[in-house]
Amino acid sequence: MAVVPEIRPRCMIWLGQPTPRERELLAAAGWELRVIDDPHGARIGLRGGDRVAVLLDLREAEPAWADAMRALLGPHSDLPLVLLGGPREGSRGEGLLQLREPLDLEQIQQLAQIVDGGSHGHDRGGTDCLVGNSAPMLAVRAALHKFAPVDLPVLVTGETGTGKELVARALHEMSTRRGRPFIPVNCGALPATLVQAELFGHEKGAFTGATARRIGLFEAADGGTIFLDEIGDLPLDAQTNLLRVLQEGTLERIGSHHTIRIDVRVVAATHVDLEEAVAQGRFREDLFYRLDVLRLHMPPLRERGDDVELLARHFVAAFREQHRVRARGFDASARRQLRAHAWPGNVRELLNRVRRAAVVCESELIDAASLQLHEAAPAPAGSAAHGDGLDDVRVQAEREAILATLRESGFNVSECARRLRVSRVTVYRLCRKHQLELESLRT
Ligand SMILES: Nc1ncnc2c1ncn2[C@@H]1O[C@H](COP(=O)(O)OP(=O)(O)O)[C@@H](O)[C@H]1O
Ligand SMILES: [Mg+2]
Repeated sequence: MAVVPEIRPRCMIWLGQPTPRERELLAAAGWELRVIDDPHGARIGLRGGDRVAVLLDLREAEPAWADAMRALLGPHSDLPLVLLGGPREGSRGEGLLQLREPLDLEQIQQLAQIVDGGSHGHDRGGTDCLVGNSAPMLAVRAALHKFAPVDLPVLVTGETGTGKELVARALHEMSTRRGRPFIPVNCGALPATLVQAELFGHEKGAFTGATARRIGLFEAADGGTIFLDEIGDLPLDAQTNLLRVLQEGTLERIGSHHTIRIDVRVVAATHVDLEEAVAQGRFREDLFYRLDVLRLHMPPLRERGDDVELLARHFVAAFREQHRVRARGFDASARRQLRAHAWPGNVRELLNRVRRAAVVCESELIDAASLQLHEAAPAPAGSAAHGDGLDDVRVQAEREAILATLRESGFNVSECARRLRVSRVTVYRLCRKHQLELESLRT
């Protein structure tokens, strides 16, 4: 077994009452939160080596309450103390930092650096590479912090391009397995005849063409994490062997009866509904339950609100670091379209559109045309009102977007896929989802 550094969570002792949003932000940044709002009879207990900050929340504080809290803190003068709210003059000299209210992400990151004592933040390559502050993305980050240290399988679900592989990597980097291999495998891309050999390895002469012994991807990932992408495409016989790895932690190379013990965390991903595949007999039910221990759902981009623009800006900035381009932002038409577009290809589609626009755009501000996003015909009045919520509006918007692009492409799937910057498979899937029958549309 490899010696791996222990990961201790950061803990915030909050004297007072955090708002629901502050609780959400702290969880998303991986902090454990302990709230003490009544100083009477309270005690501050610490585990050795905890990375702790104390926050004295003076926003609603009566002087007597604040004094009692300071008394409670007396024996813990070595802990980093920060103040939130309250009169600035009155608290001069007290605490390390006086924070603005409400507490925001930037301030939380500042605090993290303080409690880490200048050592490497354990987040680098972790949730920091995930751009997005919308409520669904904060929930994803909070789940990552919860799941990373627990050595159990994770099932990542979500549409194509939502960042499933990115979070799988983040999960690995945030776990005690970081520094060991992270091996991504696209189960859908391996030829069915080779899946077993690729995953579990083979001995020399195990089958025609096996001219030498070869270790499989599971053995290569020993001590680390294997990311099984498109797990729904795994052939049934390989599913049986995978089940054994998960149940017993052992495997046999093809052509060998020697049992090898391995220690690999499995993170699987799917964009298809695995429950449905189980119901149809295409996926083993027992394997499904083994994989679906911790579930991480990646929200579609169209549900992430302001994150779309945030991501777009992030991608332009990243592109500028590598290439000489004029583009540095977006004009009003682009921003409108970034919001209105239904993003069937999610973050991957956004990334590709932004890169292309950055290259073709002649001015500093990228416009809607460079993104190849055009003012869509408004949905017929009342069509959305039939639905009973925002979800229906979004589904409708996605359907309109697909249909419009199909029309523009003369109902040619390859062309439509090119325009949307998604795969052909995705176009077919979206057509099925929205009950768009290509055959009948073409006529
Ligand atoms: N939240 C995010 N912040 C920054 N980049 C992202 C984010 N989500 C996805 N990406 C980028 O979008 C692309 C698609 O992500 P990926 O993980 O391959 O999606 P999936 O596996 O779900 O199809 C990758 O280039 C990835 O780095
Ligand atoms: Mg992927």
